[in-house]
Amino acid sequence: MDNKTVYLNGEYLPLCDAKISVMDRGFLFGDGIYEVIASYAGNLFHFEQHMERLENSLTSIRLTNPYDRAKWLEKLTPLIDASLDQAIYIQVTRGVASKRDHAFPEIVTPTVFAMSSNIVAFTDLDSGAKAISIDDSRWGLCNVKAITLLANILLRQQAVDQGCAEAILVKDGYVTEGAASNIFAVIDGILITPPKGREILPGITRDVILELASNNGIPYSEDVVSLDALKTASEIWLTSSTREIVPVVQLDNEIIANGKPGPVWKNINQLFQTYKHSKH
Ligand code: PDD
Repeated sequence: MDNKTVYLNGEYLPLCDAKISVMDRGFLFGDGIYEVIASYAGNLFHFEQHMERLENSLTSIRLTNPYDRAKWLEKLTPLIDASLDQAIYIQVTRGVASKRDHAFPEIVTPTVFAMSSNIVAFTDLDSGAKAISIDDSRWGLCNVKAITLLANILLRQQAVDQGCAEAILVKDGYVTEGAASNIFAVIDGILITPPKGREILPGITRDVILELASNNGIPYSEDVVSLDALKTASEIWLTSSTREIVPVVQLDNEIIANGKPGPVWKNINQLFQTYKHSKH
């Protein structure tokens, strides 16, 4: 096992020594929240926005944030390697209860875990990813970054089984997001992404892209996108903290445009690569 140092409940220890109780509600129920924050040259990318989303997720499941933002930064800093692009994973569960009961235990201390892993951004300018569209079988609070990811992993695996990088999820004929990413499409020259709501995770990468579009005169709109409309798109991208902006060149066996990443992606991706290394 990789013996990198991880953080668990106040301690830094080798991954192989990081252990939790089988009575942890994260293990028994998936009762917890997570975050994934990119780190570029030692700086946590849009740390404040990730902290805000973490606070919102914890509030949604009625869990108190174990640390304030300064404390989180202090706890995460030793896990960061400034010479690498990394993803910092944070998980907070409702903690260890004395018995298995769906209702919350009366007294409990949250379990806090964090680790880093290396990320390799998508940089090939001439090829892209394949995706499938699939019925969105998830629950009704997709805006909460819950560790309970069974639907997401089954959906992603269906994509992988078909040689694809991602599953694009469709609810009542409208595209929501990817199994672990947000979606953008260029339709009639306008960059479109579905609006925030309970159907999607409010992605931090998504917000950065909208800001870059706005600041650079790229026409965009936050609007619903039907699967039929998506099939007419000249470009489709999937965005996340770990994969950045991935152009999709094939959807359900149909080649998109000329089967190569499009000009709007090239423009935004260039802006993003410059921006991620700047102070923000
Ligand atoms: N996932 N939508 C879903 C369902 C996600 O799981 C993710 C990210 C995103 C993109 O959010 P952001 O831009 O803030 O990373 C959208 C992370 C990376 C994961 O589960 O590992």
